[in-house]
Amino acid sequence: MKPATRLSLLKPSPIRAITDGTPTGAIPLGLGEPTWDLPEVARKALLRAPGPCAYVPHAGLTELRQAVAAFHGAHLDEVLITAGSQGALFSLFQAWVNPGTQVLLPDPGFVAYPALARLAGAEPVPYRLSADRFRLDADELIRVLEATPDASAVILNLPSNPTGGGGGLGALKRVADACTARGVLLISDEVYRDLHFGLRAPSLRDATDGGVVTSSVSKGWGAPGLRVGWAVGDPAWLLPARTVHGYAVTGTATPAQWAALALIEHSDTVLAAARAAVQLRWEALAEALREELGHAVTPPDGTFYHFMPLPPSAQADPLAFCLRLRDEAKVVLIPGLAFGEGGRAHVRLSFAATPEQLREGVRRLAPFWKD
Ligand SMILES: Cc1ncc(COP(=O)(O)O)c(C=O)c1O
Repeated sequence: MKPATRLSLLKPSPIRAITDGTPTGAIPLGLGEPTWDLPEVARKALLRAPGPCAYVPHAGLTELRQAVAAFHGAHLDEVLITAGSQGALFSLFQAWVNPGTQVLLPDPGFVAYPALARLAGAEPVPYRLSADRFRLDADELIRVLEATPDASAVILNLPSNPTGGGGGLGALKRVADACTARGVLLISDEVYRDLHFGLRAPSLRDATDGGVVTSSVSKGWGAPGLRVGWAVGDPAWLLPARTVHGYAVTGTATPAQWAALALIEHSDTVLAAARAAVQLRWEALAEALREELGHAVTPPDGTFYHFMPLPPSAQADPLAFCLRLRDEAKVVLIPGLAFGEGGRAHVRLSFAATPEQLREGVRRLAPFWKD
């Protein structure tokens, strides 16, 4: 048996290399998902979902689309509900990215971006983030765009997985103008936007009417398992993506869409509670890093990721170092290299874990940094 040739374009995932074979008792600081309970309003909505568990329109449950539209200051026809934001990204790429073209993506950046580009037959082209805290660097992105004549799409992720770095409104505007001038689809992945520390990062929608924003209830609203996400943008961008998404999955589960509606209707309280949970975890992590390692750290612009510098001796083979951490210290961290060459000197530590796990995890890691 031989799977379709397009699968051979995908590279083996270094994240799987770390997480497969995790020993029992290991502290999971690798995965990017909330460890706090699904908010009560969503639990209740799951129980209250109407009698027949019917299909909903391909664009999504109308009430949910209205709530997402209101949240983003958009019109109803500018919203497509998808199976997580991953469903939105996959559908947009399949709808708009032609084989033989190029997709610009952040380096370091979310591991799915290059895979989605390759599955669409395109070449992923990395652009570097700023040397100062891995923020969006508009000059650098535009330089790469100008050097890439067949670019079909550009993806932004603010605040960023894995770095937590954000970007300013001015930078967003410049990137949006450059993409509009070239007729290139600009996708802004804003799944972490509501998990901010200082001010909330600007949205692409604050910068332009063009482009598409993707997001989901997976991070800020604490419900990755519901698999509800969305794309917001000009209906002309969304309609072909809706066709792809319809054939791929028909639609995301109806009860999950009712639960997502309840979460979005209670955004004020749900998002504030999530930020408080993340703040508590950050404080536990920062204190542990200070006490165990003498590291003085500042919080990221957003997300629940600390992009932690590796000891210099570990930079030649970060995967081997993280495997040692996994098997000897029994702490799972993801090498920054998994997110691109620009992450070689760092590891991603997810502080979505509980404060106890964070304290114990750092205590176990400390000898490996000191050595
Ligand atoms: C940057 C980023 N975008 C998108 C996703 C996909 O999440 P979901 O499909 O649950 O919305 C993730 C998941 O970790 C992510 O980190």
